[in-house]
Amino acid sequence: QKAQIGVTGLAVMGRNLARNFARHGHTVALHNRSYGRTKELVEEFGHEGTFLPAESAEQFVASLERPRRVVIMVKAGPATDAVIDEFAPLLEEGDMLIDAGNAHFADTRRREAALKAKGLHFVGAGVSGGEEGALHGPSIMPGGPKESYEALGPLLEDIAAKVDGEPCCVHVGPDGAGHFVKMVHNGIEYADMQLIAEAYDLLRQVGGLSPQEIAGVFGEWNEGRLGSYLIEITAEVLKQNDADTGKPFVDVVLDQAEQKGTGRWTVQAALDLGVPVSGIAESVFARALSGGADARKAAADAGLPGPSAGAEHVGGDLSADVEQALFASKIVAYAQGFQQIQAASKEYDWEIDPGAMAKIWRAGCIIRAKFLDFIKQAYDKNPQLSTLLVDEYFLDAVSGAQDAWRRVVVTAAQQGIPAPGFASALAYYDGLRAKRLPAALIQGQRDFFGAHTYHRIDKPGSFHTLWATDDRAEVDA
Ligand code: 6PG
Repeated sequence: QKAQIGVTGLAVMGRNLARNFARHGHTVALHNRSYGRTKELVEEFGHEGTFLPAESAEQFVASLERPRRVVIMVKAGPATDAVIDEFAPLLEEGDMLIDAGNAHFADTRRREAALKAKGLHFVGAGVSGGEEGALHGPSIMPGGPKESYEALGPLLEDIAAKVDGEPCCVHVGPDGAGHFVKMVHNGIEYADMQLIAEAYDLLRQVGGLSPQEIAGVFGEWNEGRLGSYLIEITAEVLKQNDADTGKPFVDVVLDQAEQKGTGRWTVQAALDLGVPVSGIAESVFARALSGGADARKAAADAGLPGPSAGAEHVGGDLSADVEQALFASKIVAYAQGFQQIQAASKEYDWEIDPGAMAKIWRAGCIIRAKFLDFIKQAYDKNPQLSTLLVDEYFLDAVSGAQDAWRRVVVTAAQQGIPAPGFASALAYYDGLRAKRLPAALIQGQRDFFGAHTYHRIDKPGSFHTLWATDDRAEVDA
């Protein structure tokens, strides 16, 4: 008997993926650097399906049917290269190595090119949904050669989350496309989390609500258009009381957010592509600010002052307004993330279908949310949409939200409560809709000090003003 698929790297994510394949009736070959983990998996979960445990890489490879499909689930970085180096020499033409970790897309591009030269298929597959998702149905974003999807896709679709019977898995595009899209998923995840955190902070500090009460508010929002996994789990976290002290859990946790780096990668890649993902960037920087203990301590010691007079939230009901601000800012963050995917797709010739990405994010992944359906519909209507904000549904939502959104940003600023996500999303929105931006002045400054030239609104060509001369004549540049 041969296995349809193999998993190497049996820490919790790999183990759960292997079990998910087995539960779907596939025979799964197992391999781990130390055999102990492999044995443990079979002892504990052997009854769930058919596993072929291997003590060596050679035995593992020999137990797989051809073309071999080897899922690698190890720590991103050098560990992945080490596993590839171990397995590539044992594989034959047409076999597949599938990296299911959170690899950087540039690494995936490099690995794919190197393995292609050896006749092997390398598939960088984004997998979202954490441990539970891996076991019960993740959202899967496989890249790599299109041909590989014929032999691999059906297996991945089997184990993926489903919406109305449709799998949350699709071939994203060649080489690094899958890992790129997973990276942007994580960037959006950062933005979503930051925005929800700001909503909480305002309801608590301005509205005076307790964590339990805010959990109730989020519970209600979860029934509406904000319905999403992150809103749902936020309510759970807020309901939690610490066993030791009896205090709300959120009050006993150190307020310094950590990060493994995918949000930062998203922003770095966006800077290279020139796409303004300000919502994602603010959320990465907000985590960095929270973790900057020295600067925060210095600020506290120096007593950096807040606003002199407190101000009430005026013009609307606070929680209703915050819901609007949250929804509008969330739309901006997604619009930016999708724009980044489209820009990368163009840059790398990936031909990614943005609507298909929204579709496979509807279940299984961390950012799963009701409103992804509307994103899918927007791109179905117009695959070339340059920004989601002009799609009818989102335009309506943002138009309806903007007064409340502005009130929330005003209140945050007046009360000295940081709301970088809400504020920067609003600034982005206003920037996008501005008839004239002060960028014209920046062009003037650049031309003044560096002769960098400018374009005019009334005639074609590049121009330079002779700033140092008396008449400051304009010349063609
Ligand atoms: C997912 C998650 C997953 C992981 C993040 C956490 O899609 O299942 O995004 O990939 O939990 O990498 O990221 P940080 O540690 O950077 O917050």
